[in-house]
Amino acid sequence: MLNRYEEAARKAIDKFRRSAAMAAEMGLIPYKSEGGRWVPSPCDGNGWWTGGFWPGLMWQLWAMTKDDAFLREARRTEALLTEELRVFRRLNHDVGFMYLLSCGADWKLTGDEQARMDALHAASLLMGRFNPAGFIRAWNGDDQQGLAIIDCMMNLSLLYWATKQTGDPRFARVADIHAATAMREFLRENGSVSHIIEFDPVTGARVRELGGQGYALGTSWSRGQAWGLYGFTLAALNTGSPDCLAAAERIAAYFIANIRPDGLTDCDFCQPRDEERLDNIAGAVAACGLIELGGLTGRERYRAAALRLIDGLLDRCADWTEASCGVLTRCTASYHDDGAGRHTNITYGDYFLVEALAKLCGTDPMLWTA
Ligand code: GLY
Repeated sequence: MLNRYEEAARKAIDKFRRSAAMAAEMGLIPYKSEGGRWVPSPCDGNGWWTGGFWPGLMWQLWAMTKDDAFLREARRTEALLTEELRVFRRLNHDVGFMYLLSCGADWKLTGDEQARMDALHAASLLMGRFNPAGFIRAWNGDDQQGLAIIDCMMNLSLLYWATKQTGDPRFARVADIHAATAMREFLRENGSVSHIIEFDPVTGARVRELGGQGYALGTSWSRGQAWGLYGFTLAALNTGSPDCLAAAERIAAYFIANIRPDGLTDCDFCQPRDEERLDNIAGAVAACGLIELGGLTGRERYRAAALRLIDGLLDRCADWTEASCGVLTRCTASYHDDGAGRHTNITYGDYFLVEALAKLCGTDPMLWTA
């Protein structure tokens, strides 16, 4: 008999087999599901930072089933993403998310040599964003030269991957320097993390913190906490660094203390108490990080917290009906509406939900490490 996670994985396979066919027919990279149809990213076309999660989801499902319909859909959207390497101007630090889960996954699962080259190309672009003052630059605007964000901890995996692939230590060295800066400047005393820090792009001196996608300046945007938790865990997995592991455990303790009794995740852990604003993506990302952290440390409490999160999502926010294309509901892009989605299905929530299920079912190909 299947356990509840295997059963959920089975339902995800069935639902995404149908909705992958719809994505191919519509000729887009799904961003979110609305009114029973896929909707593309709100801006920057296929260069938007979320483009890798759909092919990553397809690769996770292919690893579970070996059904070539998933491989074909992963490759169809991987081709759209590699066109963006040539466009170039829309790419930013999120090339880690975009290309590790598409080209890197293709290489890892099938050994495709062109996919490996494309992932190395992306890693070179990410390394090129490094400011020797001590951080990886997040975005491209003239007024954004000094901005770095906690989300980038996830993108460092592409750099560690590139060093393992090539033997060239520069990629990993850049990642290590950025991680040390993030540990020093983003990690707060209570174990929470800031979303955005501005540095002087010449000296590297800290200028100020910005509120980013959270409720307000100095609060704790939950997805940022999840990126920090999983990002430092991945840095520890990739390098064996005890400092990264300690940072991950501090963020994990803060996150776990803020899990709601129903297992769902508020959009910001400091939002007004009478407000029902959720971001279930944060819960799915954190669950993945906690499962890995449990494996790294041998501490059962991390896996137990991950199961609380996944059980909350499966009990209350998983839509298995044919009325929609995606699964995870009540995902929110930013606390203050930015038009990218509020309390809706968003594809990267589905990616991390399925990655967590894959970990619990023993099929996760671990796309974040070489
Ligand atoms: N990297 C941006 C976000 O998590 O919305």
